[in-house]
Amino acid sequence: MCRSTVSAQAGAMNDYIFDTGSELGHHHLDHLGRLLDTPTTWRLERLGLTPDQRCLELGAGSGSIANWLAARTREVVAVDIDTTQLYDVAPGVHVIKHDLRDGLPVDGPFDLIHARLLLLHLPEREQILQRLVTALAPGGHLILGDITDRPLELLAVPEPADRDLWEKIQHLSHHVVSPARGVSWTWARETAERMTAAGLVDVDVMDYSQTAAGGTDGCLLHRNLNQQAEPLLLAAGATADELARYRELMLDPRFRAWFYQLLYTSARKPG
Ligand SMILES: C[S@@+](CC[C@H](N)C(=O)[O-])C[C@H]1O[C@@H](n2cnc3c(N)ncnc32)[C@H](O)[C@@H]1O
Repeated sequence: MCRSTVSAQAGAMNDYIFDTGSELGHHHLDHLGRLLDTPTTWRLERLGLTPDQRCLELGAGSGSIANWLAARTREVVAVDIDTTQLYDVAPGVHVIKHDLRDGLPVDGPFDLIHARLLLLHLPEREQILQRLVTALAPGGHLILGDITDRPLELLAVPEPADRDLWEKIQHLSHHVVSPARGVSWTWARETAERMTAAGLVDVDVMDYSQTAAGGTDGCLLHRNLNQQAEPLLLAAGATADELARYRELMLDPRFRAWFYQLLYTSARKPG
């Protein structure tokens, strides 16, 4: 494995809530990989990967999917606004530090363009989608994975009062803090329609969800995001005691809830 940095470009001020380059950002990406790389690679495999393909991996995070693609295709361009965690990439992966709100940093055409948990964060998602469609080769696939606003139903709590705490933190996270930073919780369900309107065909959606128990990756991710967003949650009305109890709960195996619903929407450019 080697590090391969193509270019570094200054982006506009980033509204992305989390700090990819931090220690917590590192663990955040590790949890995502352990939770989602299996369904992601299952879905990508079914698009029919071939050794001559050129791929674009956006919001590449830790590079786990870029590396997986590089083992199966000719070239992968991995783009992220913060490339700190892209330090262990496979030969064939070209890392570019770039803010995607400023456009694409490389010219197409690409046979495959993939982004997981990126466009829901970026208010410019509609323009970015248009640019991705333009950058696709005829016959190329665009595949976007984003989570929905399906409520994270509670299944078991250690104490009855934990139920209200869970509901309060979910409310502040999903209805106060994240929308104020440009997150769209409806985008995942709108993606198929937007791809069709952009002229793509063979539009298909895969729904993936699972439960999470305290101490496992789903809850450790909730805990991690809660820590990263602490100043925003306090400003939104959470108390320090509530955040402390929430983080205890996320370690407690007696806690169980449904984790996020991930929708993977894919489509092909005609030709
Ligand atoms: C939720 S993480 C997902 C990472 C990876 N795709 C995954 O699913 O494991 C979002 C990623 O998008 C990157 N990102 C956020 N805003 C961005 C922007 N404006 N341009 C490029 N990348 C961005 C973050 O640095 C982070 O790596």
